[in-house]
Amino acid sequence: MLNKIKFAYKKFHKFFNSKKDIEKFNAIPELRNLHKLFSEDTESRWIIGKKDALRIYQLVRENNPKNIIELGLGIGAGAAIIAMASSSDAQITSLEQYQKCIDIAERIFPRELRNKVKFVFSPACVFQNSKISKYLYFSGYRNFPLSADVKYDFVVIDGPGAFMEGNEFVKLPNGDLINLLPYLKFGCKIFCDGRKKQVEIYERYLSDYVKIVEREQNYTVFERTEKALNHMEEFKPVDLELFVRTKKGYF
Ligand SMILES: C[S@@+](CC[C@H](N)C(=O)[O-])C[C@H]1O[C@@H](n2cnc3c(N)ncnc32)[C@H](O)[C@@H]1O
Repeated sequence: MLNKIKFAYKKFHKFFNSKKDIEKFNAIPELRNLHKLFSEDTESRWIIGKKDALRIYQLVRENNPKNIIELGLGIGAGAAIIAMASSSDAQITSLEQYQKCIDIAERIFPRELRNKVKFVFSPACVFQNSKISKYLYFSGYRNFPLSADVKYDFVVIDGPGAFMEGNEFVKLPNGDLINLLPYLKFGCKIFCDGRKKQVEIYERYLSDYVKIVEREQNYTVFERTEKALNHMEEFKPVDLELFVRTKKGYF
């Protein structure tokens, strides 16, 4: 009986919070209108949801990041929201595996926000990091625009989407955070959309370097801890030569 009450209370709480978030979203006209611009497109079926959009908007406003990277531009809704919420000197890099999506984003993206965002085409790929685990395969982006001079202070992980490799459907947790670690500022917020399996892996293998600061049903926010990478060799960016093509999905 007690469990039933607890369950009902949790459900009510979730419903109530969710309703409150939508009210907050609707109370910010610039956010609502920008999201609407993208959601009205015929290709909008995978755009970021309202609650996630609200949280990303708030996090950007609260943390005022200057170097932002988004994995998974899609048709550009999230990138546009980040561009709108961030200060005028912020720079956003957004990676996308499908040229089709980049073309759609180019068509929809508000001109006044466009110069803050660099769209980077990069095929998705499968890789392994044997220092993490020789049994795990990850998806990620092949062409990472990393430079020793740039440290990111805000990351959104919302891609890559599933993809075909030959006749195989590949859907794997994103492992790019492993490769990104040396390029993140301490305190950097990492917003992960959905992708529970990936969150589990980050929690398990990267717990010295990132900690969860928010866990919601649709998203998780990590923060880069202040622990230096003492074992750089463990987390050095995966050399392109090390990317392996695999036909395996989860196992
Ligand atoms: C969840 S979506 C990314 C959403 C994006 N971050 C946003 O804020 O709207 C993940 C991936 O799905 C793929 N995708 C999204 N929309 C698509 C479309 N209309 N057609 C094909 N692929 C799409 C893209 O590769 C994208 O990176």
